[in-house]
Amino acid sequence: MKKRVLSGIRATGRLHLGNYFGAVKGMLDLQSRSAEYETFYMVADLHTLTTPHDKETLKQAVRDIIIDYLAVGLNPEKSALFIQSHVPEHLELAYYFSTVATVAKMQHLPTFKDKVKQYPENVTMALLNYPILMASDILVYKAGLVPVGIDQEPHLEVAREIARRMNQDFGMDFPEPKRFIDKSLPAGRQGEYIPSLTGEGKMSKTVEGSYINLTDSLGEIKSKIAKIPTDSGQGSEILGGVKTLMEFVELFEGKEKRNELENQYRGKGLRYGEIKSELSETIFAELEPIQIRRKELETNPEFVDKVIGEGAQKARRVAARTVAEVREKMGLA
Ligand code: TRP
Repeated sequence: MKKRVLSGIRATGRLHLGNYFGAVKGMLDLQSRSAEYETFYMVADLHTLTTPHDKETLKQAVRDIIIDYLAVGLNPEKSALFIQSHVPEHLELAYYFSTVATVAKMQHLPTFKDKVKQYPENVTMALLNYPILMASDILVYKAGLVPVGIDQEPHLEVAREIARRMNQDFGMDFPEPKRFIDKSLPAGRQGEYIPSLTGEGKMSKTVEGSYINLTDSLGEIKSKIAKIPTDSGQGSEILGGVKTLMEFVELFEGKEKRNELENQYRGKGLRYGEIKSELSETIFAELEPIQIRRKELETNPEFVDKVIGEGAQKARRVAARTVAEVREKMGLA
């Protein structure tokens, strides 16, 4: 039997390069191996409700992620592309899972603590339940592989614990889901974040000036890359914004180019203007075909509707079977 894969992205903004390298490239890679893997990719709209959001724009934000999925090359013939809330089985299974997960464990997750700090006025039950719903998203398809960024590792650990408990206590056969790491990333980057353009921390939708969106124009990319903080161009140690710049050079132009520039930094010195402008052009060249497809998709709303409808149907067929099995094994009539 084929192995199943599930991944999802919250609808909190447009896709950026952090999502692209952290999750989307892995999603594409697994989709292309369709003889081995059956792939389910959703927009996590229910999870979007766990932090402050705008009800007027949510629907469009969710749809935009589906369009982004299609534009980057996810193929509805190969993958089920769907919206989480269209498959209510996720919510039902999450309730059953909550009976084997402890409050203490959920309160101690670093991801929960971060959100409490970020939104102290919004420490809701939904936020506490976030990892349980995520475990359900994955296990309702009995998916063993999850292409996501490394920041999701604590959530995957919860999913594994729940799978073990459900298997031991109720005789289920859930796999213990593992994070899928995209091998096309440079070796040093496979377990890491994509760096923030500010030179500190990771690229994130919630940190202004940290990210490049997949929809950014060449001009926008140039101005963002120009803002990466750099120094005089010469020195012995590569740190801060210069290091960030070198990491982007490696991601888009390869390891050799990075080595060459780092040697120059330690020798005759670098001219950032040229380096930054060349890097910007290379990034844009990777994004331009995605942007062109996106424009085409925007003129074809019927196609997008069809993808969303069929994706939910495909997903529900599998999810309903798992939920029926869990109900029976847990002793419900
Ligand atoms: N928590 C994920 C994120 O913030 C989104 C998500 C929700 C997800 N459910 C999932 C990712 C299931 C992978 C699998 O990026």
